[in-house]
Amino acid sequence: MTQRIHLLAGVLATLIIASFFSASLLSELLGSTQTIVAVKALIVMPGLFLLIPAIAATGVSGFILSKSRQGRLVAAKKKRMPFIAANGVLILVPCAIFLHRWAAAGTFDTSFYLVQGLELLAGATNLALMGLNIRDGMKMSGRSRKS
Ligand code: HEM
Repeated sequence: MTQRIHLLAGVLATLIIASFFSASLLSELLGSTQTIVAVKALIVMPGLFLLIPAIAATGVSGFILSKSRQGRLVAAKKKRMPFIAANGVLILVPCAIFLHRWAAAGTFDTSFYLVQGLELLAGATNLALMGLNIRDGMKMSGRSRKS
């Protein structure tokens, strides 16, 4: 059960960050102002509302699973988790809230694009770290052949 929750929450959290990343990039490169405003609003609600519990559930279930596991892969996953959580809570969440407020007010100035750049960088970093955690997790569970 814990393993299933971990798998679902981990994959969901990764997909949510990937959707924030691609929707932001595509709407700002190709979309109208209205689309950008809508994307920024959706990222906050329901986006963050889903992302925060998904990251928390992944971390908690991961630590429960790791009680009965040892070794290099679990140690590497444990080390990555604080960066993933801090990146989410300290960078992605505030960036999403500021960008939503600015977009809703029609303020697309230098600060908007600087914060947008920071959000994309933090999103890409988390996607890479979460991708590594998925790879190592699947090796441990035996879903990936290179175990
Ligand atoms: C965002 C972070 C994480 C993601 C995306 C993630 C993802 C995954 C995935 C996809 C699996 C394979 C599950 C399966 O095949 O059923 C897995 C397994 C596992 N993960 Fe994570 N994980 C994360 C964080 C952690 C953390 C922080 C820990 C421990 C401290 C951890 C410990 C484990 C363990 C022990 C397994 C193997 C379960 C088993 O087969 O017994 N994970 N993880």
